[in-house]
Amino acid sequence: MTGTTAPRIPAQPGPKDTVLLRADHLGKTFGSGDRAFKAVDDVSLSVAPGEILGIVGESGSGKSTTAKMILGLLTPDSGTVTFEGADLATRSKREMRRLRARLQVVPQNPQTSLNPRLTIASSMEFNMRAHGIPADERSRRVHDLLERVGLTAAHAARYPHEMSGGQLQRVAIARALSTDPRLVICDEAVSALDKSVQAQVLNLLADLQRDTGVAFVFISHDLAVVEHISDTVVVLYRGQVVESGVASEVWAHPQHEYTAALLAATPGRSLFAA
Ligand SMILES: Nc1ncnc2c1ncn2[C@@H]1O[C@H](COP(=O)(O)OP(=O)(O)O)[C@@H](O)[C@H]1O
Ligand SMILES: [Mg+2]
Repeated sequence: MTGTTAPRIPAQPGPKDTVLLRADHLGKTFGSGDRAFKAVDDVSLSVAPGEILGIVGESGSGKSTTAKMILGLLTPDSGTVTFEGADLATRSKREMRRLRARLQVVPQNPQTSLNPRLTIASSMEFNMRAHGIPADERSRRVHDLLERVGLTAAHAARYPHEMSGGQLQRVAIARALSTDPRLVICDEAVSALDKSVQAQVLNLLADLQRDTGVAFVFISHDLAVVEHISDTVVVLYRGQVVESGVASEVWAHPQHEYTAALLAATPGRSLFAA
């Protein structure tokens, strides 16, 4: 974990220390002239294999813009993104398509990200087919993954409108995992869900991380959501990293007044049972 503030020493040195994703000095300005607005200003972060990095900050602080640059969906004005040791900017379109299997995303709203005309199985298979996973393997994975995210094989034949928001978000997670990613970016992935359902989905993500060793970048405006799931955390404020480090240390001893204010303003912190 590195940030623009004093870096802290990771609590668990060892195999987790190699770097899977690195963003160095990312910058993005929208608009021009008088209207130029720096949405992301010198953001650096890194994610080790199997780590859960939380990115927290109020609405408009540059979280999604950062996520889009990490995913290669938006070109940074400055800075670099390195995934599995190679700079994204140097990769061809073909390489980026292949890389997508290992760098997946769980979007905010599963209602709009899943095709309403496709069954759950078809949506999941579509994603796997795009990455060249053979047919027999695809159907096996659909069933395995649905069970892994707490659904059943019977859900495979359903359509999105036949499922709840929480169930659909489990499907979106299963779909993201179906290509064996090394990193999954979750941008406000539980923000549309009720608090009780949020906690269930967060527990699921933590279990999946333990079982599969996948790394997550978990983004939310809600500190209660990132608090317990994160190994490390980056606090964004007006496009800048104001604090970063091992999550438990940041929560216990916030160094920046914005982090302290966020902590103080989070009622009923702790979505997870202690
Ligand atoms: N495509 C865009 N064009 C112009 N402004 C944008 C665009 N995308 C984001 N912004 C602005 O950049 C700032 C950061 O947005 P965003 O990264 O979506 O924040 P967050 O995800 O933290 O809420 C906001 O002020 C937003 O209005
Ligand atoms: Mg956002």
